[in-house]
Amino acid sequence: MSRVALVTGGTRGIGEAIAIALHENGYCTVANYGGNDTVAREFTERTGIPSYRFDVSDYDACARSVADIEAQYGPVDILINNAGITRDATMHRMTFEQWQAVINTNLGASFNMSRAVIEGMRARKFGRIVNIGSMNGQAGQYGQVNYAAAKSGIHGFTKALALECAAHGITVNALAPGYIETDMVRSVPENVLKKIVEKIPVGRIGQAREVARGVLFLIDDDAGFITGSTLSINGGNHMY
Ligand code: CAA
Repeated sequence: MSRVALVTGGTRGIGEAIAIALHENGYCTVANYGGNDTVAREFTERTGIPSYRFDVSDYDACARSVADIEAQYGPVDILINNAGITRDATMHRMTFEQWQAVINTNLGASFNMSRAVIEGMRARKFGRIVNIGSMNGQAGQYGQVNYAAAKSGIHGFTKALALECAAHGITVNALAPGYIETDMVRSVPENVLKKIVEKIPVGRIGQAREVARGVLFLIDDDAGFITGSTLSINGGNHMY
């Protein structure tokens, strides 16, 4: 029986590439998505990967949905906490709603989802959790106090949970992408993006599949000695 992998925000962007890579490598993969039914339907038709709509910032919805998924496919052995949003604005213009939406979705969801799978993983003495952080959580970024705080939180969350899980066969790692070609990055104003790309040593933004390779590495059955680490995939933009 192949291991069951659940990818949040798995129908678009980096999450889509991760879900496809897992599926192609024989994992029984399920993708979560937050709201875009049309994209999710097209994704499922194209890839054969089932997609489940629920709000990862909602604790009860996560618990309910993980229970449904496990009833249908079996216990979740691999969790990829990928779902994320931006609400970029400089601090003096940022609203409380922009702050809260990003914290609850980008950081709160990692708690909600990990909490829903952790007891099962401990009981089975196996688990792989990969949290998608960000270079901008490591380095900070103009206009992203909310996003940088949430992603930085992901890195602390990862290390603390890794410690708690280390003796139970569960690894917890973070992956910190830099600028990757997704809708999120495409929405950065062109003049700003140009300045950002000029600073990337590799000379280009990355592709989502280049991040997915890192996830495959971290979730392998043979990766049991890698835990609490952060894998940076950013074209040399921030050497941490
Ligand atoms: N790097 C370098 N310069 C930047 C910058 C950046 N990241 N962000 C803004 N600036 C510069 C602008 O180019 C501009 O410079 P000039 O006056 O010389 O033209 C100056 O700062 C002011 O910027 P704006 O005129 O855009 O100011 P604004 O108040 O209208 O908008 C903003 C501010 C909403 C933050 C807007 O600049 C913006 O959206 N910036 C992009 C922020 C960003 O990088 N987001 C990353 C999204 S992708 C992601 O988050 C994925 C990931 O994990 C890496």
